[in-house]
Amino acid sequence: MKEKFDLSGKVALVTGASSGIGRATAIALAGCGAAVCINYHRNERGAEETRAAIIAAGGRAMVARADVTRRADVRSLIERAVAELGPIDILVNNAGSLIERLRILELTEERWDEVIALNLKSAFLCSQAVAASMMERRTGAIINVASIAGRNGGALGSIHYSTAKGGLIAFTKGLAKELAPYGVRVNAVNPGVIDTPYHEQFSTPEMMRAYTNNIPLGRIGHPAEVASVIVFLASDAASYLVGETVEINGGMLML
Ligand code: NAI
Repeated sequence: MKEKFDLSGKVALVTGASSGIGRATAIALAGCGAAVCINYHRNERGAEETRAAIIAAGGRAMVARADVTRRADVRSLIERAVAELGPIDILVNNAGSLIERLRILELTEERWDEVIALNLKSAFLCSQAVAASMMERRTGAIINVASIAGRNGGALGSIHYSTAKGGLIAFTKGLAKELAPYGVRVNAVNPGVIDTPYHEQFSTPEMMRAYTNNIPLGRIGHPAEVASVIVFLASDAASYLVGETVEINGGMLML
């Protein structure tokens, strides 16, 4: 059984891996043997810290800056990763953010487009950039980091974000159907409330208390608890999972 979780010889790319869930995922994938490309946008220091943690544990990793909402950036990100580590076997579309809580009357067209691009278009661009090689090699796993918000509409002021994440769940299923015949599996995770910089930015202490009261497990989640599910989805242990979205929320939402 243990060998099914072994990612030795695999190359993984994690977008937005300079903090939070992305960082934990990069570290977890490397811990199971994958060589990891750590993508970041603005937080170079955070990306270097992720890399240092991987190297200290005996793993292999590189750091690459790219804005994953821009096609040209994504193309050069993939080129750099492939040149340094080899063809990508595992893509984790993790980069994402609410950017700002805004209700319908305050939400501008520009903010709407920005949030949809960051949480949804980015996954399309990155998946498209790795798909041909995965299809040709008849191997690969793509994991999209969606959200509980994509199921329940999110907390107030997040329709731009929750709509993007709902779209990402549908994208996961559609792409899974296209790529499964080529031996490439596409799945998603829906984190609930996870202890990352996201909530420092977007959730008040009152909101955090209210969230916790609604979680049967009685606590918010840790990034590593999302990362371990992503590792599972990337591994041969999930060889028959296709188009699935795994809810990771301590029981906050049961479907
Ligand atoms: P985070 O803020 O630590 O991570 C977001 C990452 O995305 C950062 O590393 C940031 O630099 C990166 N990023 C932002 N714009 C980018 C761009 N244009 N190009 C490349 N990278 C970019 O927060 P967290 O929580 O770790 O978020 C990771 C993912 O998990 C996001 O997609 C978020 O929507 C999702 N999520 C988080 C939840 C939580 O409770 N923390 C709940 C549900 C989903």
